[in-house]
Amino acid sequence: QVKSREVEALMNKHLPQRTTVILHDLGRVGDQLDLTVYAVGGFVRDLLLDIQNMDIDVTVDGDGILFAETFASQFGCRVKSHQKFGTAVIVFPDGFKIDVASTRLEYYVSPGALPTVERSSLKMDLYRRDFTVNTLAIALNGDSFGKLIDYFGAYRDLQSRVIRVLHNLSFVEDPTRVFRAIRFEQRLNFKIAKHTEDLIKNAVKMEFLEKLGGRRLLAELVQILREKEPLKGVGRMASLGLLRFIHPGVELTPAMQVALEETRYVVSWFDLLYLERPYESWSVYFLTLCEGLTEEQFWGTCTRLAVAEHYKERLVEMRRQSEELIGNLERKLARSEKVDNSEIYFTLRGLPVEVLLYHMAKSRSAEVKRCISLYFTKLDGMHPQIGGEDLKELGVEPGPLYRELLDLVLSARLNGKVASREDEIQLVREVLEGV
Ligand code: CTP
Repeated sequence: QVKSREVEALMNKHLPQRTTVILHDLGRVGDQLDLTVYAVGGFVRDLLLDIQNMDIDVTVDGDGILFAETFASQFGCRVKSHQKFGTAVIVFPDGFKIDVASTRLEYYVSPGALPTVERSSLKMDLYRRDFTVNTLAIALNGDSFGKLIDYFGAYRDLQSRVIRVLHNLSFVEDPTRVFRAIRFEQRLNFKIAKHTEDLIKNAVKMEFLEKLGGRRLLAELVQILREKEPLKGVGRMASLGLLRFIHPGVELTPAMQVALEETRYVVSWFDLLYLERPYESWSVYFLTLCEGLTEEQFWGTCTRLAVAEHYKERLVEMRRQSEELIGNLERKLARSEKVDNSEIYFTLRGLPVEVLLYHMAKSRSAEVKRCISLYFTKLDGMHPQIGGEDLKELGVEPGPLYRELLDLVLSARLNGKVASREDEIQLVREVLEGV
């Protein structure tokens, strides 16, 4: 059994001081209102596992909205509340947020009627959750601050690193939990308990997952693919027969396994470059998973998964770009034709990072991989040293010629033909003189 002192020690050790102060403040406001307040869920789970998690979820035994409003007025925060659900979000001036839920719901069935009050308890509230490891709570009120509340053996499961549902209908109630189980299993490096795994298999067999809309399925898939190690999750999805929910043509064949490993390799490589070019790593995995689908099938899959219209078009375009633009480069290299740096640059410039990584992972040509790598690490950061001002001085009228001349200078620089500013000016002079 974990003592309050130990929980407090963990907080002091792992949480930023500000967070600990806020937790005490939450408890104090609870004391003032005579309401019991708990930190619950993922925040507590991660605290005990020593994983950074800044999402504080609070449950109030009573009216959570009143609690949130009182807290906000004392600490200069804003509140967004949902009367119907008895939930509120406390928003600090710097944007930091705390989610507040109530174990007491009060709502009006019809206008003018007396409010219907549904009173639950913390235990009931926690029982509705997905897995035991998410059912821990920490008391925040003054005299009990730090007390760990564990109704369902969560601490034991955290220690034996097991993902376990609370009851047999969990996946029937909410099929997205199948994907959540997989995500937690891979992220925390836990194991789905045998009985829980059987329930998943049963849910798949009984076609409960068919009820899941494309949008929710996509949200879960994206979360799995956004994890640091998505391959374990994909492997699990495959062994539980879940990949077919993307498309029946998506299978974890040995070739696909290799393609995914290669994708993971290039994504990690790219992340280590710290280029600050934003991109969606999940899309790279998604493109790889769907590699074998025709464009029509891919479009259909994106439509079924309710990928936003503009993003669906982008994804389809990415596949084409990989096929056409980079494919041309690849075919040229395969014919042993010389491809100089400027050609690599102008072929790859403007292509989304996702396409480049997808292609880099997919291609069997070491040459193409080398070209894309060279583009990211060197070519993409190169610029001419001269600019518009210099061209003006050389007597060039502003207009489209500017761009052409600067691209020409850039080409020369990429190919090592010019090394200094003077070389560049000389080159422009020669071009202007028609030499
Ligand atoms: N929850 C659930 N069933 C779901 C989604 C959520 O029971 N389908 C519960 C979980 O117990 C979880 C809580 O709601 O602890 C909050 O959900 P979420 O923020 O998604 O979960 P976290 O555990 O905080 O996960 P993450 O670390 O990925 O944010």
